[in-house]
Amino acid sequence: AVVEHTFNVGNLSISQLCQPARIITAVNGRLPGPTVEAREGDTVVVHLVNESPYNMTIHWHGVFQRGSPWADGPAMVTQCPVQPGANYTYRFNVTDQEGTLWWHAHISFLRATVYGALVIRPRGGAGAYPFSPKPHREDTVILGEWWNANVYDLQQQVFLTGDTTRMPPADAYTINGKPGDLYNCSAANQTYKFPVRSNETYLLRIINAALNTPMFFKVANHTFTVVGADAAYTTPYETDVVVIAPGQTVDALMVAGAAVGRYYMAASPYDSAIPQGPPFSMTNGTAIVEYAGSAGEEKPQLPPRTEYNDTDTAFRFLSNLTALVLPGKPTVPLSVDTRMFVTVGLGNGDCQPKQTLCNTTGTRSRIFSASMNNASFLLPDAVSMLQAHYYGDAASAGVYTRDFPDWPPVIFDYTADASDNDTLKYTTKSTKVRTLRYNETVEMVLQNTRLIGKESHPMHLHGFNFFVLAQGFGNYDEAAAAPRFNLVNPQERNTVAVPTGGWAVIRFVANNPGMWFMHCHFDAHLDLGLAMVFEVQDGPTAETSVPPPPLDLPQC
Ligand code: C2O
Repeated sequence: AVVEHTFNVGNLSISQLCQPARIITAVNGRLPGPTVEAREGDTVVVHLVNESPYNMTIHWHGVFQRGSPWADGPAMVTQCPVQPGANYTYRFNVTDQEGTLWWHAHISFLRATVYGALVIRPRGGAGAYPFSPKPHREDTVILGEWWNANVYDLQQQVFLTGDTTRMPPADAYTINGKPGDLYNCSAANQTYKFPVRSNETYLLRIINAALNTPMFFKVANHTFTVVGADAAYTTPYETDVVVIAPGQTVDALMVAGAAVGRYYMAASPYDSAIPQGPPFSMTNGTAIVEYAGSAGEEKPQLPPRTEYNDTDTAFRFLSNLTALVLPGKPTVPLSVDTRMFVTVGLGNGDCQPKQTLCNTTGTRSRIFSASMNNASFLLPDAVSMLQAHYYGDAASAGVYTRDFPDWPPVIFDYTADASDNDTLKYTTKSTKVRTLRYNETVEMVLQNTRLIGKESHPMHLHGFNFFVLAQGFGNYDEAAAAPRFNLVNPQERNTVAVPTGGWAVIRFVANNPGMWFMHCHFDAHLDLGLAMVFEVQDGPTAETSVPPPPLDLPQC
């Protein structure tokens, strides 16, 4: 079937937290935007009509985009932006994946308000879920961040000053766009309500759409059975807390098994960088689970708060999930063609033109920066990387280079303060890609580094799911880690939260020709260069090659 939508992106006037009404950018006048609902194998067609004052693109986060790389969406990677007043149609299939994905703007920080859910049910519909009990109802629960300031202006401040502390903490965490009534001045109509009936089962499709904050998610007096993550089924996993980094999704069953009453659903931040990192709001973003038969007025109970720096709880949840092994599903490739060791972290870098806050130390000016293997990624500005790739070497010369650095495993103590490490101290901005042959199998060790504090970076790969074979703390030690790889039922993800001060090992098969962004899903870090691009070469046939660009592809 074909699922067709029109997304009018435009101004929406909205007043939250007692602020004067503010103009945000939103799709079809709603926050969150519309849910795209499809069945596995469907074709999705979305007409983007840009009525906003900003350049716009939409990314279909987690969709493989096999054969449709022009529809992936990251600005300047797979397309030039859709300019104000212009249109573009995204056309792609949702094949070989089921569960919850989402869509968001992929330019500036505009995804703060331009986001929504993308739900992929089995071909047989909800009756064909490989878990039980079957839910009586499904709801999307989108966690977000709300700023009273204009997010486009915030992005300019962060980029021009290179100072993430210019990115003030969110003024509120939100559930389905609403902060909830624990914030000062947050009215009852700014609290999302979740009606339930005793003993019924609900499927919560939880999405973390926040710009910069991993979340703990709880419902007072209720527990969850996790059945999926990043649109891949998991072995059912019982928990009273869901941990979810920006970019990730979790599908969880919740039984309304508590006494008739009202209960808070609460999202609170996970941030291991404190006290050195930027501050954040200590108030929970909440929604209210309201039982049929309750008076609708009782003060809801709040779940016990998880400490903001509870890395044990975060690690336990994120590393305990395993895949539900189903017939016909891809399994972990056991032989590896290419091994990569890649650091992810923050550091100091060269100043860019227009950046105002550069310090000069000695002969060198520097600015806060972020990098992978010390290459700090800069988007091109004249043509998208996929266009440059498609039109061949003459077109790509001057747009990107194929020298993303290959690093040997562990040469430093990455957990030590990187500001004292000469190799990690300065990064240079560049647009480097790593070229992969069609069908090459890649194993990547993602190793966190530390400068102003340790952080868990949610690393997202476009165009693929990867298997997460192992995760741990400290410096990666292959001899100790490799024998413990899960090669039987590792979780499949498109975004892995690399443990704070630690590492994660992922594997994927480069079976999708195109230009695929890999980056930290903290927008502040993406902007500072915590990104790279895989250039996956064409396969032997037309079906395994990048197709010609659609006729309406925006030009820069
Ligand atoms: Cu959800 Cu490149 O992002």
